Amino acid sequence: MKLNVIETTTASRTAFLPFALPSIGEEEIAEVADSLRSGWVTTGPKVKRFESNFAEYVGSKHGIAVSSCTAGLHIALTALGIGPGDEVIVPTLTFCSSANVIVHLGARPVLVDVGEDFNVTPEAIEAAITLRTKAIMPVHYGGQACDLDLIYALAAHYNLPVVEDAAHAVGATYHGYEIGSDALSSLCEGEESGVRVATVFSFYATKNMTTGEGGMITAVDDELVERMRLLTLHGMSRDAWKRYTSTGSWYYEVVLPGYKYNMTDIQAALGIHQLRKLDGFIAARQHYARVYDQAFADLPEIEIPLTHADRGHAYHLYVVRLNLERLTIDRAQFIEELKALNIGSSVHFIPVHLHAYYRETFGYSPGDCPTAERIYKRVISLPLFPRMSDDDVLDVVHAVKDVISRHRS
Ligand SMILES: Cc1ncc(COP(=O)(O)O)c(C=O)c1O
Repeated sequence: MKLNVIETTTASRTAFLPFALPSIGEEEIAEVADSLRSGWVTTGPKVKRFESNFAEYVGSKHGIAVSSCTAGLHIALTALGIGPGDEVIVPTLTFCSSANVIVHLGARPVLVDVGEDFNVTPEAIEAAITLRTKAIMPVHYGGQACDLDLIYALAAHYNLPVVEDAAHAVGATYHGYEIGSDALSSLCEGEESGVRVATVFSFYATKNMTTGEGGMITAVDDELVERMRLLTLHGMSRDAWKRYTSTGSWYYEVVLPGYKYNMTDIQAALGIHQLRKLDGFIAARQHYARVYDQAFADLPEIEIPLTHADRGHAYHLYVVRLNLERLTIDRAQFIEELKALNIGSSVHFIPVHLHAYYRETFGYSPGDCPTAERIYKRVISLPLFPRMSDDDVLDVVHAVKDVISRHRS
């Protein structure tokens, strides 16, 4: 497809273009209907199928389906035994859930700064390591992998486990390996130390693929996987599928005080088909991102996202930075202007250390993470989803150019 992105018009769309929408096809609808008709609507055979399909897709020995990425992160940290007095290092430029799960365990989220590519820097991680540090949680912001070579090397050096928040990164690659693959573990010095202990994905409605709500953990260590599996369902030694089928037994034991974080077959029904379409979804995202890159490259008022050649960007988000000194309006007004042209947008993220709870509870204050704060003031996430038409993409380009042309300083 060739798009003429150079010509601009000021015509506004008649229908609002949301910042994100899922792509649900007839296959997903039929599979969900099949689950509903089968009478098996909670965790069952489709969850098992989805787990094994997903693990195979990313190249991991194990997939554990969960009710959300937040649940998966909580379980991974719980399985590692993280608790009061412990610290977990996490970037501040992330969704609150990455940090909230650390708080749920009574541990301290050590919020650190990011680089110009929006990802946590190995330097910031290393500077934050103390004797109380029990894990590192990098976040693959927007669908581009963090600097995993250096992060794994640091983790191996300090003997710390890495739990990756890959909420945005299903379909992303690093040195040609899928995020979440066991092969990535071999990148780290001392593979045997198993620094990459778990990678956790999100299938929330706006993500690269969706199950409505849902998530998946991939991991390599059998013992840790067993603990995480138990934690997804009350710590019971047998799940309902094992108990209620003709070959099952009613007996179970609670071996851990687990959570109710299991995925249902209705969700997995969606996931099985979304996964089959994932490569196409990512290709569409990458294509539209290139169209945006080309359209905005020469505009001094905005900066296009920084990318790394050794990483396959999944483009969960397309985030531009406004050069505010070249504009007469701020970011909030820019968003309002786009909205007036029927273009939705969003901001990722309000740095966690600036939120009231984190300031008041942990003593964080503005100035603690200067790069993230500077980025936050300038970023806008533009619409990017596979269901967009070429015309939708052009409408976004035209709207951005239109707002800029009316507010140049
Ligand atoms: C970086 C990041 N981590 C974790 C999550 C939580 O994902 P979920 O909604 O599946 O719990 C999100 C959700 O948007 C996110 O953006």
